[in-house]
Amino acid sequence: MKIIEVNFITSGVKLSQYPEDALPEIALAGRSNVGKSSLINAMINRKKMAHTSSKPGKTQTINFFSVNNKVMFADVPGYGYAKVSKVQRAAWGRMLESYFTKREPLRSVIQIVDLRHAPSQDDVSMYRFLKHHNIPVIIVATKADKITKGHWQKHLKVVKQTLNVLPSDPVILFSSETKVGRDELWGEIMRRVSD
Ligand code: GTP
Ligand code: MG
Repeated sequence: MKIIEVNFITSGVKLSQYPEDALPEIALAGRSNVGKSSLINAMINRKKMAHTSSKPGKTQTINFFSVNNKVMFADVPGYGYAKVSKVQRAAWGRMLESYFTKREPLRSVIQIVDLRHAPSQDDVSMYRFLKHHNIPVIIVATKADKITKGHWQKHLKVVKQTLNVLPSDPVILFSSETKVGRDELWGEIMRRVSD
């Protein structure tokens, strides 16, 4: 994918604040700190467009980026972050639930897991939730650079089995550091937004 133009559009925490000029939209989902914002930067060839941090809980609003005026990426706060208050966590939960179930331009969710570890119970619940709502999902197993190549397939198998991934949902090995998987992921995204 040749990136010609990327624009930060807006941030929001409720449906009325999200962009209205309906480009087909792809949203990120995954645990705090798994690498959602980094994946967006890797996809759009920008180092700091989506804000990242080594500490979990960096992204707190839904942030929208348009790419080539063709597709909108929605960067979403992570789940499973223990260090925020119960009230804050419940508010994020409601924000994510209403986004994923009511956001009209949403075409597909990129659910990110860490290739190094078996998906968590939260990851399994998230995938089930998305499938319950019939949302097409692309599973991305990221941080592949942290594992030797010879172990990739073994770890991918654990990801597929733990999440119980449906055959219609692709599983892509990825690294925001080395960009492995980037072209394959762009292929899946464009296939889903041009339908
Ligand atoms: P929240 O916004 O808190 O939900 O986190 P996030 O999922 O957006 O994670 P973020 O992109 O901020 O990345 C978290 C940390 O993981 C940062 O220190 C990144 O540099 C690192 N990271 C992300 N992707 C990769 C990757 O593919 N490889 C390596 N080695 N590190 C990564
Ligand atoms: Mg983030």
